[in-house]
Amino acid sequence: MTTLTEADALHGMRDALGLLKDREQVAERLLDSSAKHSFDPDKELDWDAPFEDGKWFWPPELVSLYDTPLWKRMSEEQRILLSRHEAAALASLGIWFELILMQLLVRHVYDKSATSAHVRYALTEIEDECRHSKMFARLITRGGTPWYPVSPVHQHLGRLFKTISTTPGSFTATLLGEEVLDWMQRLTFPDERVQPLVRGVTRIHVVEEARHVRYAREELRRQMVTAPKWSKEFTRITSGEFARVFSIAFINPEVYTNVGLDKRQALAQVKASGHRREIMQTGSKRLTDFLDDIGVLRGPGRRLWKSSGLLA
Ligand SMILES: [Fe+2]
Ligand SMILES: [Fe+2]
Repeated sequence: MTTLTEADALHGMRDALGLLKDREQVAERLLDSSAKHSFDPDKELDWDAPFEDGKWFWPPELVSLYDTPLWKRMSEEQRILLSRHEAAALASLGIWFELILMQLLVRHVYDKSATSAHVRYALTEIEDECRHSKMFARLITRGGTPWYPVSPVHQHLGRLFKTISTTPGSFTATLLGEEVLDWMQRLTFPDERVQPLVRGVTRIHVVEEARHVRYAREELRRQMVTAPKWSKEFTRITSGEFARVFSIAFINPEVYTNVGLDKRQALAQVKASGHRREIMQTGSKRLTDFLDDIGVLRGPGRRLWKSSGLLA
């Protein structure tokens, strides 16, 4: 009897916070939207169409060296070649994030009821990410560019993180991996200067990714209310550390070597570039405003965020 009352009280409390209902309702809506707007990239896109001369593989303003002294000395052809390699490096980074995310989602639902909409949506999102990773890999191959793995240190950090992270830590990292790239892709798919295949890939990704961002945001918002105090504090600090790792992994220095530039000189110019800093901060703003709002950007973690260059 007592147990039932306690359970009822807990239920009532959760309902008052809008947590239980919300979680299922959000997931049901996302499942509906997935049923209506999901794409098979292998069928949807024309993979055999030749690339168009003079078209970019990534909008020039989003290429790391844009507006630097080195950029000003590069020929248009070399700039486009750099955009081709940077698109491949970002697709490789995307695959890395997605593999981590898939494991985080599997861990997230492991103890939950498989019949809940929340779990069914997580499984649907894993299906999306499987298609995305194959789509990115196919884009890299089609571009005739190499696969650009992250550094061995980041590779091992990722392995550790996806195995032991807490729930709020997992969803914070998810949003970091999804939202900044998403901001860039939203500028890429409507851009007529960009190769149609790249526009097609980014359009599919943006449509399906909007659901993932919604799912992760709603869950993280709940977690920052319900998680134990130590876990929230831990999230504040570790998220600042992710931001730092993320901003370094975002550029793969091998792209410079592969287009005939000096890696060290190029990296130094990117680091000094005001344009680049603005791009990364603008691209992160939607995310950092949200994290600030739900209380993640407090204390020492905030300083780490600033040192990552993503927070103004
Ligand atoms: Fe994805
Ligand atoms: Fe995603």
